[in-house]
Amino acid sequence: MRPVIAVHAGAGTWRYLRIRDVIPVIERALRSGMEVIASGGMAVDAAVKATIALEDSGLLNAGLGSVVDLTGNVTMDAGVMDGETGGIGAVAAVTYPKNPVLLAKKVMELTDHVLLAGEGADKLAKALGMERHPGPTERVMGRYRELLAKIKEGGAVRFRKSYELALKLGWLDLHDTVGAVALDREGRLAAAVSTGGVIMKFPGRVGDSAIPGAGFYATQKGAAVATGIGEVIIKSFLALSVVRRIESGLPAMEAAERTIEELTKDYGKDTAGVLVVDGEGNAWASYNTEAMPWGFLRLGDRAPTISGLPESS
Ligand code: GLY
Repeated sequence: MRPVIAVHAGAGTWRYLRIRDVIPVIERALRSGMEVIASGGMAVDAAVKATIALEDSGLLNAGLGSVVDLTGNVTMDAGVMDGETGGIGAVAAVTYPKNPVLLAKKVMELTDHVLLAGEGADKLAKALGMERHPGPTERVMGRYRELLAKIKEGGAVRFRKSYELALKLGWLDLHDTVGAVALDREGRLAAAVSTGGVIMKFPGRVGDSAIPGAGFYATQKGAAVATGIGEVIIKSFLALSVVRRIESGLPAMEAAERTIEELTKDYGKDTAGVLVVDGEGNAWASYNTEAMPWGFLRLGDRAPTISGLPESS
């Protein structure tokens, strides 16, 4: 068994972001999570710390870089699961915290509940003195205005059709959700995930990242986080399906590959990806999108391994 931290920056098309800007973010997140593991800390703290580094990048679709809904507002989802204790915390459609994944961890630690949504969750973040989200970045708002204009130009009145058309035309640069999985020195596993959801979503929409078993799951044998179209991931219970396969004896890579194969048969390509680690410390990401930048760092390794980059990079 070798302790490891693995993170991803989202499955998607990766057309607009420069991948050379994303690689240092992945490396920073891995090193940040590994600091916790190396000092004897818990997998759950490592996964959350790594996810905070991704949220704080302002580049990825989570935390500071979260995309906006149809009305131009940021609402975020996040989840955490400690595979050792079975503890779960999640938040849905929150607007207040800069780091929704931290609020999800507080839900796990401080409340009797698994999932807090909207106003109540925001109130808790405020009461805990959490840092406040500053609102969408200029880059996200620029993209929003451009999309809105294109949707209007097209005369499209229905969100679904507009959205699918925009996706087909390459106007939506889907790079969706961030997440981390970790195995610590004591063999404990954990998963953490965070997202701004899908751009131009209907206000109030909640995706997979707030739903245990869909966007994230961890047991004493495996941990997984999902990325992609939340509706597909919720219907297929992606993270739970992968972990169940690990529990039935498959190593991380095979479990992830088989589950994504099955999901692709049911829902088509360009829909999802999953990052997973098993109890031996094998980390793997499988996806049916153009790319899913991800990486892992094992305890004792000097340099991380990065993979899943778009072909053009
Ligand atoms: N995978 C993130 C979402 O659909 O909200």
